Amino acid sequence: MAELRAFTHGLMPQTTPAIMQAFCEDWAERGVDAWNGVPDRWDIGHQTSWWTLPEDLGDRWISPLLSAAPGTCVLQPNVHWTVAALLSCDEPFDGRTGVVLSEAEFPSVRHNVRQWAGLREINMHEVAASGADVDVEAMLDAITDDTAWVFVSHVGFASGAKLPDAAIRALADRAHARGALLCVDGYHATGSVDVDVNALGADVYVGGLLKEASGSSGNSYLYVRPGLDLRPRLSGWFADADPFGFNAAPEPHPRVRRRFLAGTTAVASMYHAVEGLRVLLGPGLDAVRQDSLDKTGYAIERIDALLAPEAAGASGVHLRSPREAERRGAMIVLAMPDADKMCAWLKTRGVYTDSRRGEVLRFAPFVWNTQEDIDRCVDAIAEALETGAHLRYEAPTEAGPVT
Ligand SMILES: Cc1ncc(COP(=O)(O)O)c(C=O)c1O
Repeated sequence: MAELRAFTHGLMPQTTPAIMQAFCEDWAERGVDAWNGVPDRWDIGHQTSWWTLPEDLGDRWISPLLSAAPGTCVLQPNVHWTVAALLSCDEPFDGRTGVVLSEAEFPSVRHNVRQWAGLREINMHEVAASGADVDVEAMLDAITDDTAWVFVSHVGFASGAKLPDAAIRALADRAHARGALLCVDGYHATGSVDVDVNALGADVYVGGLLKEASGSSGNSYLYVRPGLDLRPRLSGWFADADPFGFNAAPEPHPRVRRRFLAGTTAVASMYHAVEGLRVLLGPGLDAVRQDSLDKTGYAIERIDALLAPEAAGASGVHLRSPREAERRGAMIVLAMPDADKMCAWLKTRGVYTDSRRGEVLRFAPFVWNTQEDIDRCVDAIAEALETGAHLRYEAPTEAGPVT
Protein backbone atom coordinates (compact mmCIF):
# COMPACT_ATOMS: atom_id res chain seq x y z
CA MET A 1 0.00 0.00 0.00
CA ALA A 2 1.33 3.45 -0.87
CA GLU A 3 -0.41 5.81 1.57
CA LEU A 4 0.61 9.21 0.23
CA ARG A 5 -2.02 11.37 1.89
CA ALA A 6 -0.08 12.72 4.87
CA PHE A 7 -1.65 16.13 4.33
CA THR A 8 -5.26 14.91 4.61
CA HIS A 9 -5.06 12.51 7.55
CA GLY A 10 -1.76 11.06 8.68
CA LEU A 11 -1.26 7.36 9.40
CA MET A 12 -2.38 6.18 12.82
CA PRO A 13 0.60 5.79 15.17
CA GLN A 14 0.99 2.28 16.61
CA THR A 15 0.61 3.68 20.11
CA THR A 16 -2.84 5.15 19.48
CA PRO A 17 -4.93 2.12 20.57
CA ALA A 18 -3.10 2.06 23.92
CA ILE A 19 -3.68 5.76 24.60
CA MET A 20 -7.37 5.40 23.70
CA GLN A 21 -7.53 2.48 26.13
CA ALA A 22 -6.05 4.89 28.70
CA PHE A 23 -8.94 7.27 28.02
CA CYS A 24 -11.39 4.44 28.77
CA GLU A 25 -9.50 3.62 31.97
CA ASP A 26 -9.48 7.24 33.16
CA TRP A 27 -13.19 7.54 32.41
CA ALA A 28 -14.03 4.22 34.08
CA GLU A 29 -11.80 4.70 37.12
CA ARG A 30 -12.04 8.46 37.74
CA GLY A 31 -15.47 9.30 36.31
CA VAL A 32 -16.34 12.94 36.78
CA ASP A 33 -13.21 13.40 38.91
CA ALA A 34 -11.14 13.05 35.72
CA TRP A 35 -11.96 16.74 35.27
CA ASN A 36 -9.95 17.33 38.44
CA GLY A 37 -7.07 14.96 37.81
CA VAL A 38 -5.86 12.17 35.55
CA PRO A 39 -2.48 10.40 35.31
CA ASP A 40 0.00 12.21 33.11
CA ARG A 41 -0.28 10.21 29.87
CA TRP A 42 1.35 12.93 27.76
CA ASP A 43 4.75 13.49 29.44
CA ILE A 44 3.52 16.86 30.63
CA GLY A 45 5.70 16.52 33.69
CA HIS A 46 3.11 17.38 36.30
CA GLN A 47 -0.39 16.46 37.40
CA THR A 48 -2.96 17.24 34.75
CA SER A 49 -6.73 17.00 34.40
CA TRP A 50 -9.37 17.06 31.71
CA TRP A 51 -10.00 20.66 32.76
CA THR A 52 -6.44 21.81 32.16
CA LEU A 53 -5.45 19.49 29.28
CA PRO A 54 -6.05 21.99 26.44
CA GLU A 55 -3.51 24.35 28.01
CA ASP A 56 -1.15 21.65 29.33
CA LEU A 57 -0.90 20.03 25.91
CA GLY A 58 -0.42 23.49 24.42
CA ASP A 59 2.62 24.10 26.61
CA ARG A 60 4.13 20.64 26.38
CA TRP A 61 3.52 19.79 22.71
CA ILE A 62 2.40 22.79 20.63
CA SER A 63 4.86 25.40 21.94
CA PRO A 64 7.91 23.36 20.81
CA LEU A 65 6.43 23.04 17.30
CA LEU A 66 6.18 26.81 17.00
CA SER A 67 9.11 27.98 19.19
CA ALA A 68 6.39 29.67 21.21
CA ALA A 69 6.64 30.87 24.80
CA PRO A 70 4.84 28.90 27.52
CA GLY A 71 1.31 30.12 28.19
CA THR A 72 0.55 30.99 24.56
CA CYS A 73 -0.86 27.79 22.99
CA VAL A 74 -4.10 25.91 23.55
CA LEU A 75 -5.80 22.93 21.92
CA GLN A 76 -8.89 23.73 19.87
CA PRO A 77 -11.59 21.62 18.19
CA ASN A 78 -10.94 22.92 14.65
CA VAL A 79 -9.66 25.97 12.80
CA HIS A 80 -13.16 27.07 11.85
CA TRP A 81 -14.13 27.54 15.48
CA THR A 82 -10.89 29.36 16.29
CA VAL A 83 -11.18 31.81 13.39
CA ALA A 84 -14.82 32.48 14.27
CA ALA A 85 -13.76 33.22 17.85
CA LEU A 86 -10.97 35.52 16.60
CA LEU A 87 -13.37 37.44 14.39
CA SER A 88 -15.74 37.79 17.33
CA CYS A 89 -13.12 39.84 19.24
CA ASP A 90 -13.92 43.56 19.30
CA GLU A 91 -10.38 44.76 20.08
CA PRO A 92 -8.84 44.42 16.59
CA PHE A 93 -11.92 46.14 15.07
CA ASP A 94 -11.72 49.17 17.35
CA GLY A 95 -12.08 51.98 14.77
CA ARG A 96 -11.26 49.58 11.91
CA THR A 97 -13.22 47.43 9.48
CA GLY A 98 -10.72 45.84 7.11
CA VAL A 99 -9.90 42.14 6.81
CA VAL A 100 -7.26 41.29 4.21
CA LEU A 101 -6.89 37.71 3.01
CA SER A 102 -5.78 35.84 -0.04
CA GLU A 103 -8.39 34.07 -2.12
CA ALA A 104 -6.12 31.03 -1.72
CA GLU A 105 -7.22 30.68 1.92
CA PHE A 106 -8.97 27.50 3.08
CA PRO A 107 -12.77 27.84 3.65
CA SER A 108 -12.32 27.74 7.44
CA VAL A 109 -10.83 31.21 7.02
CA ARG A 110 -12.37 32.40 3.77
CA HIS A 111 -15.98 31.46 4.45
CA ASN A 112 -15.67 32.58 8.05
CA VAL A 113 -14.65 36.11 7.06
CA ARG A 114 -17.46 36.24 4.50
CA GLN A 115 -20.01 35.10 7.10
CA TRP A 116 -18.72 37.56 9.68
CA ALA A 117 -18.95 40.37 7.15
CA GLY A 118 -22.71 39.95 7.52
CA LEU A 119 -22.55 40.05 11.31
CA ARG A 120 -20.28 43.00 12.03
CA GLU A 121 -18.99 45.85 9.92
CA ILE A 122 -16.26 44.18 7.91
CA ASN A 123 -14.71 45.41 4.73
CA MET A 124 -13.43 42.15 3.26
CA HIS A 125 -10.48 42.56 0.94
CA GLU A 126 -9.88 39.24 -0.79
CA VAL A 127 -6.67 39.49 -2.77
CA ALA A 128 -6.57 37.56 -6.05
CA ALA A 129 -4.12 34.67 -6.06
CA SER A 130 -1.77 34.12 -8.96
CA GLY A 131 -2.62 30.53 -9.85
CA ALA A 132 -3.17 29.09 -6.40
CA ASP A 133 -0.22 31.10 -5.03
CA VAL A 134 -0.55 33.97 -2.60
CA ASP A 135 0.28 37.30 -4.24
CA VAL A 136 2.31 38.77 -1.40
CA GLU A 137 2.92 42.15 -3.05
CA ALA A 138 -0.80 42.64 -3.65
CA MET A 139 -1.53 41.65 -0.06
CA LEU A 140 1.03 44.15 1.23
CA ASP A 141 -0.62 46.85 -0.88
CA ALA A 142 -4.06 45.92 0.46
CA ILE A 143 -3.08 46.54 4.11
CA THR A 144 -4.17 50.04 5.16
CA ASP A 145 -4.80 52.04 8.33
CA ASP A 146 -8.32 50.57 8.29
CA THR A 147 -7.09 46.95 8.38
CA ALA A 148 -7.90 44.99 11.52
CA TRP A 149 -6.75 41.49 10.49
CA VAL A 150 -4.57 39.93 7.82
CA PHE A 151 -5.00 36.18 7.22
CA VAL A 152 -2.56 34.08 5.24
CA SER A 153 -1.69 30.37 4.92
CA HIS A 154 1.83 29.23 5.69
CA VAL A 155 1.50 26.43 3.09
CA GLY A 156 -1.26 26.69 0.49
CA PHE A 157 -3.73 23.80 0.55
CA ALA A 158 -4.24 23.91 -3.22
CA SER A 159 -0.75 24.95 -4.29
CA GLY A 160 1.46 23.08 -1.81
CA ALA A 161 3.57 26.27 -1.80
CA LYS A 162 5.25 27.32 1.43
CA LEU A 163 5.39 31.07 1.85
CA PRO A 164 8.98 32.12 2.56
CA ASP A 165 9.49 33.27 6.15
CA ALA A 166 10.60 36.65 4.79
CA ALA A 167 7.24 37.09 3.02
CA ILE A 168 5.29 36.32 6.19
CA ARG A 169 7.58 38.65 8.13
CA ALA A 170 6.95 41.40 5.56
CA LEU A 171 3.19 40.92 5.97
CA ALA A 172 3.59 41.03 9.76
CA ASP A 173 5.70 44.19 9.62
CA ARG A 174 3.27 45.94 7.27
CA ALA A 175 0.29 44.85 9.37
CA HIS A 176 1.93 46.10 12.56
CA ALA A 177 3.00 49.38 10.96
CA ARG A 178 -0.69 49.97 10.15
CA GLY A 179 -1.94 48.79 13.54
CA ALA A 180 -3.34 45.48 12.23
CA LEU A 181 -2.85 41.88 13.39
CA LEU A 182 -1.53 38.92 11.38
CA CYS A 183 -3.02 35.45 11.70
CA VAL A 184 -1.14 32.63 9.94
CA ASP A 185 -2.96 29.40 9.09
CA GLY A 186 -0.22 26.82 9.45
CA TYR A 187 -2.29 23.71 8.96
CA HIS A 188 -0.07 22.25 6.24
CA ALA A 189 3.17 23.32 7.92
CA THR A 190 2.43 21.70 11.28
CA GLY A 191 4.64 18.69 11.90
CA SER A 192 6.52 18.97 8.61
CA VAL A 193 8.23 22.35 8.99
CA ASP A 194 9.99 23.85 12.00
CA VAL A 195 8.02 27.03 12.70
CA ASP A 196 9.19 30.06 14.68
CA VAL A 197 6.24 32.32 15.38
CA ASN A 198 8.51 35.05 16.75
CA ALA A 199 10.68 35.16 13.64
CA LEU A 200 7.53 35.21 11.49
CA GLY A 201 6.08 38.04 13.56
CA ALA A 202 2.71 36.25 13.76
CA ASP A 203 0.25 37.63 16.29
CA VAL A 204 -1.84 34.50 16.01
CA TYR A 205 -0.98 31.11 14.50
CA VAL A 206 -3.53 28.33 13.99
CA GLY A 207 -3.15 24.79 12.75
CA GLY A 208 -3.99 21.19 13.40
CA LEU A 209 -2.33 17.90 14.21
CA LEU A 210 -4.37 15.52 12.11
CA LYS A 211 -2.27 15.66 8.96
CA GLU A 212 1.48 15.15 8.96
CA ALA A 213 1.41 15.10 12.78
CA SER A 214 -0.87 12.03 12.68
CA GLY A 215 -3.36 13.04 15.31
CA SER A 216 -7.00 12.80 14.30
CA SER A 217 -10.03 15.07 14.25
CA GLY A 218 -10.48 17.40 17.20
CA ASN A 219 -6.74 18.13 17.41
CA SER A 220 -6.45 21.70 16.27
CA TYR A 221 -4.61 24.47 18.12
CA LEU A 222 -4.20 28.21 18.61
CA TYR A 223 -1.17 30.37 19.47
CA VAL A 224 -1.71 33.95 20.69
CA ARG A 225 1.36 36.14 21.07
CA PRO A 226 2.15 37.15 24.65
CA GLY A 227 0.55 40.45 25.62
CA LEU A 228 -2.16 40.38 22.94
CA ASP A 229 -5.34 40.95 24.93
CA LEU A 230 -8.14 39.41 22.87
CA ARG A 231 -11.61 38.87 24.31
CA PRO A 232 -13.64 36.62 22.02
CA ARG A 233 -17.38 37.21 22.22
CA LEU A 234 -17.68 33.61 21.07
CA SER A 235 -16.37 32.10 24.24
CA GLY A 236 -17.94 29.46 26.41
CA TRP A 237 -18.36 28.75 30.08
CA PHE A 238 -15.18 26.64 30.06
CA ALA A 239 -13.41 29.92 29.26
CA ASP A 240 -15.01 31.85 32.09
CA ALA A 241 -13.00 33.35 34.94
CA ASP A 242 -15.50 31.88 37.40
CA PRO A 243 -17.14 28.92 35.62
CA PHE A 244 -18.74 27.43 38.72
CA GLY A 245 -20.13 30.77 39.86
CA PHE A 246 -22.79 30.31 37.15
CA ASN A 247 -23.07 34.06 37.00
CA ALA A 248 -25.55 35.99 34.86
CA ALA A 249 -22.86 37.48 32.63
CA PRO A 250 -19.64 35.94 31.32
CA GLU A 251 -16.30 37.11 32.69
CA PRO A 252 -13.26 36.56 30.44
CA HIS A 253 -10.65 34.24 31.93
CA PRO A 254 -7.44 36.04 32.94
CA ARG A 255 -5.41 33.74 30.65
CA VAL A 256 -6.03 34.89 27.06
CA ARG A 257 -5.56 31.46 25.46
CA ARG A 258 -8.19 29.92 27.74
CA ARG A 259 -10.78 32.44 26.52
CA PHE A 260 -10.88 30.49 23.27
CA LEU A 261 -12.47 27.45 24.90
CA ALA A 262 -16.16 26.96 24.38
CA GLY A 263 -18.59 24.58 26.05
CA THR A 264 -17.54 21.26 27.55
CA THR A 265 -14.21 20.24 25.99
CA ALA A 266 -14.21 17.08 23.85
CA VAL A 267 -11.55 15.25 25.84
CA ALA A 268 -11.33 11.91 24.00
CA SER A 269 -9.61 13.55 21.04
CA MET A 270 -6.92 14.97 23.31
CA TYR A 271 -5.80 11.47 24.16
CA HIS A 272 -4.73 10.74 20.58
CA ALA A 273 -3.53 14.29 19.86
CA VAL A 274 0.21 13.91 20.34
CA GLU A 275 1.07 10.29 19.51
CA GLY A 276 2.27 11.36 16.05
CA LEU A 277 4.25 14.24 17.52
CA ARG A 278 6.12 11.81 19.77
CA VAL A 279 7.31 10.05 16.61
CA LEU A 280 8.24 13.24 14.76
CA LEU A 281 9.84 15.15 17.62
CA GLY A 282 12.09 12.14 18.39
CA PRO A 283 14.41 12.82 15.43
CA GLY A 284 13.28 16.47 15.41
CA LEU A 285 11.47 18.57 12.83
CA ASP A 286 14.68 19.54 11.01
CA ALA A 287 15.33 15.86 10.25
CA VAL A 288 11.66 15.37 9.29
CA ARG A 289 11.84 18.34 6.94
CA GLN A 290 15.05 17.09 5.31
CA ASP A 291 13.52 13.66 4.80
CA SER A 292 10.39 15.23 3.30
CA LEU A 293 12.50 17.40 0.95
CA ASP A 294 14.55 14.38 -0.16
CA LYS A 295 11.39 12.43 -0.93
CA THR A 296 9.50 15.22 -2.67
CA GLY A 297 12.71 16.02 -4.60
CA TYR A 298 12.92 12.43 -5.82
CA ALA A 299 9.23 12.43 -6.74
CA ILE A 300 9.67 15.66 -8.72
CA GLU A 301 12.60 14.15 -10.66
CA ARG A 302 10.43 11.17 -11.56
CA ILE A 303 7.53 13.43 -12.55
CA ASP A 304 9.78 15.61 -14.72
CA ALA A 305 10.87 12.50 -16.61
CA LEU A 306 7.25 11.40 -16.92
CA LEU A 307 6.18 14.77 -18.30
CA ALA A 308 8.97 14.95 -20.86
CA PRO A 309 7.51 16.12 -24.19
CA GLU A 310 7.54 12.67 -25.77
CA ALA A 311 5.51 11.02 -22.95
CA ALA A 312 2.14 9.76 -24.12
CA GLY A 313 -1.05 11.24 -22.66
CA ALA A 314 0.72 13.80 -20.50
CA SER A 315 -0.68 16.90 -22.18
CA GLY A 316 -2.34 19.30 -19.78
CA VAL A 317 -0.40 17.80 -16.86
CA HIS A 318 2.09 19.93 -15.00
CA LEU A 319 3.68 20.37 -11.62
CA ARG A 320 1.73 23.06 -9.82
CA SER A 321 3.55 22.94 -6.47
CA PRO A 322 6.93 24.67 -6.29
CA ARG A 323 10.11 23.03 -7.46
CA GLU A 324 12.56 24.99 -5.25
CA ALA A 325 13.18 23.26 -1.94
CA GLU A 326 12.62 26.34 0.24
CA ARG A 327 9.22 26.97 -1.39
CA ARG A 328 8.03 23.36 -1.05
CA GLY A 329 5.70 22.13 1.67
CA ALA A 330 5.31 18.39 2.22
CA MET A 331 2.88 17.88 -0.65
CA ILE A 332 3.26 17.69 -4.38
CA VAL A 333 0.44 19.07 -6.48
CA LEU A 334 0.02 17.98 -10.09
CA ALA A 335 -2.45 19.87 -12.24
CA MET A 336 -4.19 17.43 -14.57
CA PRO A 337 -7.53 17.04 -16.33
CA ASP A 338 -9.77 14.45 -14.61
CA ALA A 339 -7.62 14.38 -11.48
CA ASP A 340 -10.57 12.93 -9.55
CA LYS A 341 -10.70 9.95 -11.91
CA MET A 342 -6.96 9.50 -11.63
CA CYS A 343 -7.24 9.56 -7.83
CA ALA A 344 -10.04 6.96 -7.85
CA TRP A 345 -8.17 4.72 -10.30
CA LEU A 346 -4.91 4.94 -8.32
CA LYS A 347 -6.81 3.63 -5.30
CA THR A 348 -7.54 0.43 -7.22
CA ARG A 349 -3.75 0.05 -7.48
CA GLY A 350 -3.32 0.54 -3.74
CA VAL A 351 -1.90 4.06 -4.27
CA TYR A 352 -3.65 6.62 -2.06
CA THR A 353 -3.54 10.24 -3.20
CA ASP A 354 -6.31 12.85 -3.31
CA SER A 355 -7.74 15.28 -5.78
CA ARG A 356 -9.29 18.71 -5.49
CA ARG A 357 -12.11 19.89 -7.78
CA GLY A 358 -10.98 17.29 -10.32
CA GLU A 359 -8.23 19.78 -11.25
CA VAL A 360 -5.25 18.71 -9.17
CA LEU A 361 -3.84 15.48 -7.83
CA ARG A 362 -2.11 15.87 -4.49
CA PHE A 363 0.28 13.46 -2.80
CA ALA A 364 2.88 13.65 -0.06
CA PRO A 365 5.64 11.09 0.38
CA PHE A 366 6.31 11.50 4.10
CA VAL A 367 8.44 9.89 6.83
CA TRP A 368 6.69 6.53 6.64
CA ASN A 369 6.96 6.22 2.86
CA THR A 370 9.72 4.50 0.91
CA GLN A 371 11.21 5.25 -2.47
CA GLU A 372 9.27 2.24 -3.71
CA ASP A 373 6.00 3.96 -2.72
CA ILE A 374 6.98 6.95 -4.84
CA ASP A 375 7.97 4.75 -7.76
CA ARG A 376 4.69 2.82 -7.59
CA CYS A 377 2.73 6.06 -7.57
CA VAL A 378 4.56 7.68 -10.49
CA ASP A 379 4.59 4.42 -12.48
CA ALA A 380 0.84 4.05 -12.01
CA ILE A 381 0.22 7.67 -13.07
CA ALA A 382 2.38 7.06 -16.15
CA GLU A 383 0.42 3.95 -17.01
CA ALA A 384 -2.91 5.74 -16.66
CA LEU A 385 -1.81 8.73 -18.73
CA GLU A 386 -0.56 6.42 -21.45
CA THR A 387 -3.55 4.06 -21.58
CA GLY A 388 -6.33 6.40 -20.42
CA ALA A 389 -7.40 3.60 -18.02
CA HIS A 390 -8.46 6.10 -15.36
CA LEU A 391 -10.86 7.81 -17.78
CA ARG A 392 -12.78 4.55 -18.30
CA TYR A 393 -12.85 3.62 -14.62
CA GLU A 394 -16.20 3.93 -12.82
CA ALA A 395 -15.52 4.47 -9.12
CA PRO A 396 -18.01 2.71 -6.82
CA THR A 397 -20.35 5.18 -5.15
CA GLU A 398 -19.46 5.60 -1.51
CA ALA A 399 -21.44 7.27 1.23
CA GLY A 400 -19.21 10.29 1.83
CA PRO A 401 -17.81 13.05 -0.38
CA VAL A 402 -14.17 12.81 0.76
CA THR A 403 -11.58 12.24 -1.97
C1 LIG B 1 -5.04 25.46 5.24
C2 LIG B 1 -6.07 24.70 6.03
N1 LIG B 1 -6.62 25.28 7.12
C3 LIG B 1 -7.53 24.62 7.86
C4 LIG B 1 -7.94 23.34 7.54
C5 LIG B 1 -8.92 22.61 8.39
O1 LIG B 1 -9.82 23.46 8.99
P1 LIG B 1 -10.85 22.92 10.07
O2 LIG B 1 -10.06 22.55 11.28
O3 LIG B 1 -11.78 24.04 10.30
O4 LIG B 1 -11.52 21.72 9.47
C6 LIG B 1 -7.39 22.72 6.43
C7 LIG B 1 -7.83 21.35 6.08
O5 LIG B 1 -7.46 20.75 5.12
C8 LIG B 1 -6.45 23.41 5.65
O6 LIG B 1 -5.92 22.85 4.56
